[in-house]
Amino acid sequence: MNKRDLLTLKDWSREDLINTIEEAITIKQNPKRYAELLNGQTLAMLFQKTSTRTRVSFEAAMTQLGGHAIFLNWKTTNFTLAEIRDEVRYLSRNVDIIMARLLKHQDLEKTGEASRVPVINGCTEKYHPCQTLCDLVTIKEKKDRLKGLNLVYVGVQNNVCNSLIIGSIKVGMKITVVAPVIHQPSLDRGLIEEAEKSGLYYTTLNIKEAVKEADIVYTDTWIDMELFSDPKFKKEKEKRIEKLKPYQLNQDLLKDRDVLIMHDMPIHEGYEITRQVIESPNSIIFEQAENRLYGQKAILLKLLEKI
Ligand code: CP
Repeated sequence: MNKRDLLTLKDWSREDLINTIEEAITIKQNPKRYAELLNGQTLAMLFQKTSTRTRVSFEAAMTQLGGHAIFLNWKTTNFTLAEIRDEVRYLSRNVDIIMARLLKHQDLEKTGEASRVPVINGCTEKYHPCQTLCDLVTIKEKKDRLKGLNLVYVGVQNNVCNSLIIGSIKVGMKITVVAPVIHQPSLDRGLIEEAEKSGLYYTTLNIKEAVKEADIVYTDTWIDMELFSDPKFKKEKEKRIEKLKPYQLNQDLLKDRDVLIMHDMPIHEGYEITRQVIESPNSIIFEQAENRLYGQKAILLKLLEKI
């Protein structure tokens, strides 16, 4: 059976990505036109990790498109007891589309293979493609273009950073990564090798110089959600905070800089970003989070072949 998934964005063409971004902006402007496109259709949302935005935006998107979403907390399902492929084989016989936030990308790949319906990556340790697609919606909305812009990502080289690299290069945007720490489970050497060939991927540890050239400065949590309160990660957390302190987005770094400030949330105020920067006129963090809704609608409609 021919089905489209969204597991990494790597296999999406530039045209697919740009069209979906533009469709999200149109959906935002004309919500009523899309209100019944998913009548009678069901999204299963499987979460092995916590979430606010991904869950809310997908669930609200399904409601607003005329469909329905089922929230499945991994811990209260029989995914805890059985082979993931068998549970997914069943699931995909009862729903029209699956969105899964899983700890291991390998399990998401198994999900994609076992499912007879489209599968969306709701964030794994390696990639967060929906986040990037929705972020590109916000940047396009604010700047009216993507090609030729320079996005500076500051923080840990992680899943969000990987997806931003994939998405930025696809749309012709320069991405400069300022990352003194690599989250090893997120590392994708093949992606970095490809990115290096693109002419659009740069790395530096000179945050001041990088910010001078930026159109957008983007940061993310220094500690992944599943590790933030884990006592086993305490030492590594302290080490990271020490190493990353000079890379905080604060007023001292950003004063006089006319750059958009982005953060995918949840925010750890006082670590990767200060309250002053979160609330500054250049911060588009809350519009960015709001736009998850319109981006997710476009993703659902695309994968269900409605647009
Ligand atoms: N940015 C993001 O995915 O938010 P949640 O973890 O709250 O879903």
